[in-house]
Amino acid sequence: MTGWLVTGAGGMLGRDLVALLERGGETVTGLTRQQLDVTDAAAVNGAVLGLKPDVVVNCAAWTAVDDAEAHEGDALEVNGRGAANIAAACASSGARMVQMSTDYVFDGTARRPYAEDDTPAPRTAYGRTKLAGEEAVRGRLPEAGFVVRTAWLYGAHGPNFVRTMIRLARDRPEVRVVDDQHGQPTWTADVASLIIGLIQAAASPGIYHATSSGQTTWFGLAQEVFRLLGANPARVTATASSALARSASRPAYSVLGHDGWARAGIAPITDWRLALRRAFPVLPQPKQTS
Ligand SMILES: NC(=O)c1ccc[n+]([C@@H]2O[C@H](COP(=O)([O-])OP(=O)(O)OC[C@H]3O[C@@H](n4cnc5c(N)ncnc54)[C@H](OP(=O)(O)O)[C@@H]3O)[C@@H](O)[C@H]2O)c1
Repeated sequence: MTGWLVTGAGGMLGRDLVALLERGGETVTGLTRQQLDVTDAAAVNGAVLGLKPDVVVNCAAWTAVDDAEAHEGDALEVNGRGAANIAAACASSGARMVQMSTDYVFDGTARRPYAEDDTPAPRTAYGRTKLAGEEAVRGRLPEAGFVVRTAWLYGAHGPNFVRTMIRLARDRPEVRVVDDQHGQPTWTADVASLIIGLIQAAASPGIYHATSSGQTTWFGLAQEVFRLLGANPARVTATASSALARSASRPAYSVLGHDGWARAGIAPITDWRLALRRAFPVLPQPKQTS
């Protein structure tokens, strides 16, 4: 039996991971931001040395991509120093660590899926701070540190694009969505399952890409949500990213390659459309207004 500690356990991924571990009968402690601030090195050390988990999964993060542009130091404190604090505590206790990361570590200009060992070149403050977290974990835990990059997450908890589209399908006659960013919509429960599989398979430490197979654009994803709701997908119209003013630029191409899973003998996540169909029943549906 593996003992697990999940930090950032109140977030969208953290909640699904803790729930899946509990359902699998694992010993798990999930700590929310209120219960453990990962920027507090002494508190992190106390939690890891006190609970003595075999594995710590760090789901805590500053995820406000646009706000990070004006507050990079604050974002770095959570995404860089927070990860470093956990890695240092794991190095002292002998625990393995899984650090969650993102497609934003890449520049988004590729024309083929990013491999796990492609050179990161973040173009945003958020991406730079997440890369600092990756480097802190890999530097401190060369034999026990896993970096799991994901992207375009949706799930039952917390705000996300799919839930927004479900709401807009009810509230608006037409929705405009960007059609020039390419990525892999990914269900948090699928990521949680891969994290558990990685540890249970005693896979080699290193970088893994936990995103759905296939690819689409935000426009393609929005149309698929409408289809699943039985709404007319033609109500979604395509627009360009340049039409939306945002502080942080969005990567045009965020597709991540999955070779790491083959090396670990683990199947990657299924095609994004199938994953979305499976996830749909657990995503909260807003009440219909008459
Ligand atoms: N969402 C995506 O599309 C996406 C894409 C790529 C990668 N990721 C990565 O996946 C991981 C999970 O993301 P998510 O979508 O689950 O994010 P989320 O819902 O924003 O969850 C992050 C959690 O971290 C907590 N947190 C923030 N600062 C903290 C601190 N100092 N100490 C402890 N906890 C703190 C937040 O608490 P508060 O809510 O109270 O601030 C929140 O509960 C993150 O590493 C993220 O970078 C996400």
